Amino acid sequence: MPISPPLMTPLHAKRIRHLTSINDLRIDEIEAVFALADKYLRELGDPAIDYRIGRSMEAARGSILATLFYEPSTRTRLSFETAMIRLGGKSISSADPTTSSAAKGESLADTVRVASNYADVLVIRHPRDGAARFAAEYSSVPVINGGDGAHEHPTQTLCDLFTLKRENKDLRNMNVAISGDLKGSRTIHSFVYALARFGAQITLMPAKGMELPEHVLWRLSQEFNHTPEPKEPEEASVDALYVTADQPHQLALIAEPEAIDVHLEKTAARKKKNIDAVYVTRFQKERWADTDQDYPTVDADFLKGREFSDSRVMHPLPRVGELDVALDSDPRAVYFRQAAYGVPIRMALVSLLLGIEKDNAFEIFEDGFRGGHATLYQQPRELGIRCSNPNCIVHDPFDGKYTKNKFHLIEHQGRRLRCLYCERDIQSFVVGNKKQKTYEPHAENPGPLPKNVNDIVFFASAAEAEAALYTGKPGKKSTPRL
Ligand code: NCD
Repeated sequence: MPISPPLMTPLHAKRIRHLTSINDLRIDEIEAVFALADKYLRELGDPAIDYRIGRSMEAARGSILATLFYEPSTRTRLSFETAMIRLGGKSISSADPTTSSAAKGESLADTVRVASNYADVLVIRHPRDGAARFAAEYSSVPVINGGDGAHEHPTQTLCDLFTLKRENKDLRNMNVAISGDLKGSRTIHSFVYALARFGAQITLMPAKGMELPEHVLWRLSQEFNHTPEPKEPEEASVDALYVTADQPHQLALIAEPEAIDVHLEKTAARKKKNIDAVYVTRFQKERWADTDQDYPTVDADFLKGREFSDSRVMHPLPRVGELDVALDSDPRAVYFRQAAYGVPIRMALVSLLLGIEKDNAFEIFEDGFRGGHATLYQQPRELGIRCSNPNCIVHDPFDGKYTKNKFHLIEHQGRRLRCLYCERDIQSFVVGNKKQKTYEPHAENPGPLPKNVNDIVFFASAAEAEAALYTGKPGKKSTPRL
C-alpha cells in the first residue's frame, strides 16, 4: 500500500507578505491599496453614493480566508469575510475562543500552523500585544493583524485614511484631532504613525491619564522626525499637543521615497488652522482595571468652533457614549461610511496579498517581511532580557513557551531594544558576551558591542548577568547597578 507523505507545514516555503503593523507598508503601497479599493468601488458601487446589492466578483474563486478572533469584533471580522465573498472567495471563521481549541489550552502557534493549511490568508485578532507578528512566524500563508492588544490595528487605519481621501481631504496636508483613550487604542497607534508619515499635523486630546505612550511618541519624533510642540494657550481646554511632520529619520525600518515632498508640503500645512478630522475613540475598558473614568465626549457643542466647520467626525466604532448619537444626522459625521469602506479596502488588501491583483508598488518577500536597517537580536527565552511589556505575547502562559527573546537593536540617541513582537522599547540593560561569559557593568556608558550579534546577550541588570554566571569585565566596577 502506498504511504502518503506526512502533512507538512512549509514555514515560509513560499514568497508571501504579512501585515502586522501599518509600518509594514510603504506610502506607495498604501496608495496601491487605495487605488484598487477605488476600482472595486467603481465596479461594485460606493456605499456612500450608489450602493448596488448583490455584486460580487470571480477574482478570488477557490481562495479561502480564515478569521481567527480571540477578542470580540463586529466590523473587522464581518468586513473581512464579506470582502473575501465579494471577491469570489469563501471564508471560514473561528470567532469565539470559548468554542475553539483555545478553550482547551491550545496555543496560537499551533492553531495558526493548522489553519494555514486550511486557508490562503489568515486574519487574527488577539488580546496580546504582538500576537499577529508572532502568528506570522508559524504561518505559511499571509497573516493580517485584525487588532493585537493595545499594539496596532493597521487595516482600520487603511479604512480611516481611505475615508478621508474619499472625502476629498489631501492626506499630505491635514490637521487631525484625536480624542479619548490614546494609550490603549490600537487604532490610534496605527493611525498616528500613518498620519505622521503622510505629513499630517496631529492634535492629541487624551482623556486624563490616557496619553499616547512614550514609545509611540518616541517613534513619531525619532523615526518619523515629528517634533512635538506644546499646545498654544488659546487652544481648547483639553490637553493638546502638536506633532508636526518632517522627513522620516534614516533609522525608520521603512524606506519612504516621498519623504522630501512631505517635508516641503508640510510648511504650508502648519499654518492651516482648520481641523480636517476629529477622530474619537472609546475608553478601552477591557485593557484597564480602572473603569471610573472622566472621559471626553464629542457632540455638537464640542464641534461648534469655526475650526470644525469642515471637519469630518470619525470613529472606528463601537461607540459607547463618547460620541453623541445626535451627530448621526450632521453632514460632518462619516463614521458609518468609514465602517462601510472596510469592505473595499479589505478586498484590495487581500487581493494584493494573495497576488490576485498585481501592483508594481506592492512587494512580496521571502519571509513575509520587508526587513529593515536594525539588527535582529535573538536568544532562547531562558537566557537574558525579556520584553518588559507584561501584555506582550511572550508572556502569554500558552504562547510564551514558543517565543524567543527577539529584539531589534536600535542605535539612535543611545541604545534601545525593541521587542520584535509588541514593538515596546527597553532602554536600560547590560551587555554580555556569550563567548567570554563576561558582561559590561557600565550600562550608561557601554563599550562597543561584540561584532557577531550571536555573541551578544542582553541582561536586564548586572544582578541578572551574575545570576547567569557571567562576570563583570575585569578592571571595571562589577557591583550591580540599582
Ligand atoms: C476597534 C478595535 O477593535 O480596536 N474596533 C474596530 O475594529 N473597528 C476599536 C475599538 O474597539 O474601540
